[in-house]
Amino acid sequence: MKNIVNLEYLTNEEIYEILDEADAFAKGKKVDYQGSKCIAYLFFEPSTRTHYSFEKAALNLNCKTQNLDIQNSSVLKGESLYDTVRFFESIGSDAVVIRHPENDYYKQLIGKINIPILSGGDGTGQHPSQSLLDLLTIRQEFGSFEGLKVVIVGDVQHSRVAHTNFKIMERLGMSVYTSGPLEYKEEGMNYVDFDEIIPQVDVVMLLRVQHERHTSNMSLSKEEYHQQYGLNRQRVETMKENAIIMHPAPFNRNVEIADDIVECEKARIFKQMENGVYVRMALINQVLKDE
Ligand code: CP
Repeated sequence: MKNIVNLEYLTNEEIYEILDEADAFAKGKKVDYQGSKCIAYLFFEPSTRTHYSFEKAALNLNCKTQNLDIQNSSVLKGESLYDTVRFFESIGSDAVVIRHPENDYYKQLIGKINIPILSGGDGTGQHPSQSLLDLLTIRQEFGSFEGLKVVIVGDVQHSRVAHTNFKIMERLGMSVYTSGPLEYKEEGMNYVDFDEIIPQVDVVMLLRVQHERHTSNMSLSKEEYHQQYGLNRQRVETMKENAIIMHPAPFNRNVEIADDIVECEKARIFKQMENGVYVRMALINQVLKDE
């Protein structure tokens, strides 16, 4: 695997290979690059989980790391993405992790950049490492994917997590539904009524409303959103006994999820974050081991 930027470019076998290795890291597998490799982090959008769990993953593999401080970099002088990435290649970085607001930003780099590119998310397009950690969390819970039902709820239209998960989960044999405010509904993504679907699904995956990607204000107040689409105790009580709650985070307490549900017995949100390190260790190892 040379670049990991879009799960559509990976076969099911390659996806299972990453998940199996992530599981092995979760169980204590060790890989030590002895400081011989350096990973560069280029985050053109804010991030806590993706950025710092990718960095922790590199440190766990005994790789060195460099973080581009965008606000004090030549990006502010108009340097292009290609020239910035090419710089990191020139100084000897062994791989780059990039998050960028432009959908498909990686298409301008692939074939021109000779070090592996790991995507930390592109606009509203794809979030491959998030989907892989979501898949790992689901497989740890249920053992396999075939036949599971998932509902993804919220600002589906602006969510790269929803876009990536909808496709890969269906490909791996799950039935995937979406729900949430009609203004953020996306055609072709199996939209259903939230309260009707909750008792039928194995996974309720909540999304944050992505205000930063909107051109106009949401028509609902936070209170209205919570009342209509927020996961509260009353709704949790209608879930199947073994069903779980997921959220890529950051989450807005008492908007898409009630404060007392964030860490309830069905919630796997912090487990997802822990799994993020193992998945990103597997991703870094996949692209470095053949170098
Ligand atoms: N889930 C996720 O991508 O979180 P960050 O934006 O904090 O990286």
